[in-house]
Amino acid sequence: MRKILCTLSAAVLLVACGGGETKKESTETTTAAPENKLSDNPDYSKGLALVAGSDCLTCHKVAEKNIGPAYQDVAAKYENTDENIEMLAGKIIKGGSGNWGAIPMTAHAQLSQDDAEAMVKYILLLKK
Ligand code: HEC
Repeated sequence: MRKILCTLSAAVLLVACGGGETKKESTETTTAAPENKLSDNPDYSKGLALVAGSDCLTCHKVAEKNIGPAYQDVAAKYENTDENIEMLAGKIIKGGSGNWGAIPMTAHAQLSQDDAEAMVKYILLLKK
């Protein structure tokens, strides 16, 4: 298993330059409902900053499948409940596999449960 993970991280490093978030929201100042202004939501900004500061975007994109599932697909799959937030944060910390395909997600043992939960809150806000 370690060997697979090492090989995988090597592969990830090779493609690391391709990542990056391209999706921009155009916020027209008409009668935008609060839920359309994601950037005003503190959970959104905090989680986004943490995700951007970690290695997540090497494997994940917001709207397209990459090595990992698109964050919008993750948001569509899981309801935004405390239980799911806790469970998904645990997967980010310990690593996960089997829910989206054969490729496992690497563990992020250095993350605190709080930070991992903040990341999940951001991801679950991306539901379309
Ligand atoms: C090495 C590539 C890689 C990195 C880096 C990575 N992920 Fe993943 N992630 C994956 C893969 C692959 C899956 C699908 C795992 C599965 O099938 O259960 C996944 C799944 C997920 C899921 C859904 C888990 C589930 O059980 O449905 C979440 C949430 C997630 N990642 C968040 C993150 C966050 C946040 C980070 C940054 C701290 C991150 N990922 C970093 C590859 C990665």
